Amino acid sequence: MNRMRGKTVIITGATSGMGKATAVMFAREGAEVLLVGRNEKRGAEVVREISEFGGKARLYVCDISFEENVLNLVHRISESYDKIDVLFNNAGIWDTSALEEIDEERIRKSFAINYDAIVLMSKYFMSMLVRAKGSIINNASMGGLDSFVNGTKQYVYASTKAAVIKFSKLLAKNYADSIRVNCICPGIIETEIFINRDFSRFDGTIPMGRIGQPDDVAKVVLFLASDDASYLTGVILPIDGGASLV
Ligand SMILES: NC(=O)c1ccc[n+]([C@@H]2O[C@H](COP(=O)([O-])OP(=O)(O)OC[C@H]3O[C@@H](n4cnc5c(N)ncnc54)[C@H](OP(=O)(O)O)[C@@H]3O)[C@@H](O)[C@H]2O)c1
Repeated sequence: MNRMRGKTVIITGATSGMGKATAVMFAREGAEVLLVGRNEKRGAEVVREISEFGGKARLYVCDISFEENVLNLVHRISESYDKIDVLFNNAGIWDTSALEEIDEERIRKSFAINYDAIVLMSKYFMSMLVRAKGSIINNASMGGLDSFVNGTKQYVYASTKAAVIKFSKLLAKNYADSIRVNCICPGIIETEIFINRDFSRFDGTIPMGRIGQPDDVAKVVLFLASDDASYLTGVILPIDGGASLV
């Protein structure tokens, strides 16, 4: 308890899945969580859940795949806060197009949220993060790792995530004297991102023998954001029950 007391934390994609689980966990640890997402109804539910146990949360409805929206978000947040301790760049979508289905719109849409938004959020919140000597945690994917080579419908998604990994390493190195930057690579995690809810198709593909839960990820994000990880930066961390082992 209280590992995040006094900290202000932005979580993108906090209206469901891993973002929601992380928001609830951080709030239980005393953080004030600023939830970002497009779906006002689901976001308000998360705020309500956090308020019920006495936690602090605010919802900022925003589609962060557009630069002008990110700038507007910075403006709104900086009206109430002068520093940000943690930015969890988590929002993302999962494109599962085979090569012949890919078109310009799908590529642009995926990169806009999975990659561009991470770069823009990092850029425009940097001064507030530096003020707090804070940290960024980017949510990439096992799909972005070099060991991931067998997805026939992952061309766009995996490429966006590989880009996030590269961006995270460069940012970690260039800002090592001011903030920490780490990147997580979840494997199969049971969230709303999966339209096909039959997770038995992953049986036998995960060495630890089970798919992950949002809390498995939230616990790692909490660790990376905490002082326990004060000497960690530039880490690319799989959270996948061993699934990315070659
Ligand atoms: N689940 C997995 O197995 C898995 C594995 C590896 C990596 N990941 C990554 O983990 C991250 C979280 O995904 P999840 O599995 O927790 O899925 P999820 O439950 O579908 O959550 C995705 C979140 O992203 C938000 N979002 C999407 N587009 C947005 C936009 N344009 N602007 C603002 N927010 C937006 C959604 O909120 P709104 O709809 O309210 O906008 C939602 O809260 C993603 O980056 C995903 O690629 C997932």
